[in-house]
Amino acid sequence: MKVYFGDGSDLGMKFEYKVQDKPVGLADAFRLGADFIGNDNVALILGDNMIYGSRIERVLKEASKLQEGGIIFGYKVADPTSYGVVEIDKNGTALSIEEKPENPKSNLAVPGIYFYDNEVVKIANTIKPSERGELEITDVNRVYMEKGKLKVIPLGNGYAWFDTGSPDRLSDAADFVKAIELRQGVQIACLEEYAYKNKWISKDQILKHAEKYKKTEYGKYLKRVAEEEEDFCENIFE
Ligand code: G1P
Repeated sequence: MKVYFGDGSDLGMKFEYKVQDKPVGLADAFRLGADFIGNDNVALILGDNMIYGSRIERVLKEASKLQEGGIIFGYKVADPTSYGVVEIDKNGTALSIEEKPENPKSNLAVPGIYFYDNEVVKIANTIKPSERGELEITDVNRVYMEKGKLKVIPLGNGYAWFDTGSPDRLSDAADFVKAIELRQGVQIACLEEYAYKNKWISKDQILKHAEKYKKTEYGKYLKRVAEEEEDFCENIFE
């Protein structure tokens, strides 16, 4: 990651890194990252999760405006037993949340993207390791839920969510990405493209990236992005 992206300045962004030496659980992120978080609110996104959908950017921007409490998402899956599982009422209020339950109370799995207020740092320091020896993000979410401060946003049919943590699921995600990219001639999660379209980098800068990868399809794609007029098909129905 660090070797590839460095401090992010090539993309007009700012990246900092902290390594978790031992896999003691997701909630450890808020302990390791306490200095980085400071007094801010914070989002945690798992590197092995992929969410795709035309409105995702808008949904995440909205979630990032959170003032108090926590926001998680719910995604209906056939078999939720390998995930955090949340049960909600008709108003979307969380009734229960469990980690990898044998008998799930709902089909709503919790994807690996979470938004919290600054309290999360304190909460992460109070929870104890689970039976599998990890500081569970689900236990953090349960603390917010018990305070009535956990909002669950269901992600409906217009989204694809993949957890790529096993070879089978990684291959499912790869098939999905391949199908979309080939059919539409786009690149999914092309950071240079986002940076350029958000005006964090200039045309010259994206062309430099294109030059770096010029022998590949990716490089040719970046060149096209730099040279094309505004894409009138993008989000035309939104
Ligand atoms: C973790 C979380 C789980 C969540 C999942 C999403 O599971 O503990 O609640 O649903 O990520 O990918 P793990 O990857 O530790 O099995």
